[in-house]
Amino acid sequence: MEVALSPLDEPALARLLDAAVAGADPLEVMPPVIGAPGWTPERRTAFLEFHRTRCLNPATAVERTWVVDVGGEAVGAARLQPRGDAVEAGIWLSRASRGRGIGTRVTALLLDEARSTGAARFLASTTTGNRGARAVLASAGAVLTAEGDEVTAELALN
Ligand SMILES: CC(C)(COP(=O)(O)OP(=O)(O)OC[C@H]1O[C@@H](n2cnc3c(N)ncnc32)[C@H](O)[C@@H]1OP(=O)(O)O)[C@@H](O)C(=O)NCCC(=O)NCCS
Repeated sequence: MEVALSPLDEPALARLLDAAVAGADPLEVMPPVIGAPGWTPERRTAFLEFHRTRCLNPATAVERTWVVDVGGEAVGAARLQPRGDAVEAGIWLSRASRGRGIGTRVTALLLDEARSTGAARFLASTTTGNRGARAVLASAGAVLTAEGDEVTAELALN
């Protein structure tokens, strides 16, 4: 199973939207949008604008985003956002791609990217109920700290 990170661009963003619509809940992959549930036209547009604003438009970009490709097919996204001397990471995978070791592999690839930026620390946030995310982060060597439902993961990179 070949897992690769493809830098986001417009063609990759179109593939990413297809993967999100096919296999993820909007709330797992983007901020809430008011209106009827599911992948409405408004939510699809908001998904595209979310990534254009945060990654593709140089005037507003705050993070680097990649499409997670498995065997050449988009199955999710990964991101790194600089935060002072640290980088904050995020990952989502489509339902059919979870629990197969892909998140573990993507985390290793993100750690390589994070090191190459010279960042001192790798950060991620999740919730106590997200056992998959907690397991992936702990097995990567991150120290997890819980405060209420929020879990913060931190790993020194140097
Ligand atoms: C969280 C997520 C990225 C994890 O990636 P994944 O590919 O499913 O995880 P892996 O298959 O690599 O599993 C890694 C470890 O987590 C464990 N795990 C995975 N899913 C689990 C689950 N739902 N419950 C309990 N353990 C789980 C695996 O058993 C494995 O443990 P091991 O290292 O001891 O063998 C993925 O499930 C996902 O995208 N979920 C939805 C979106 C999301 O929650 N993103 C993170 C927000 S912070």
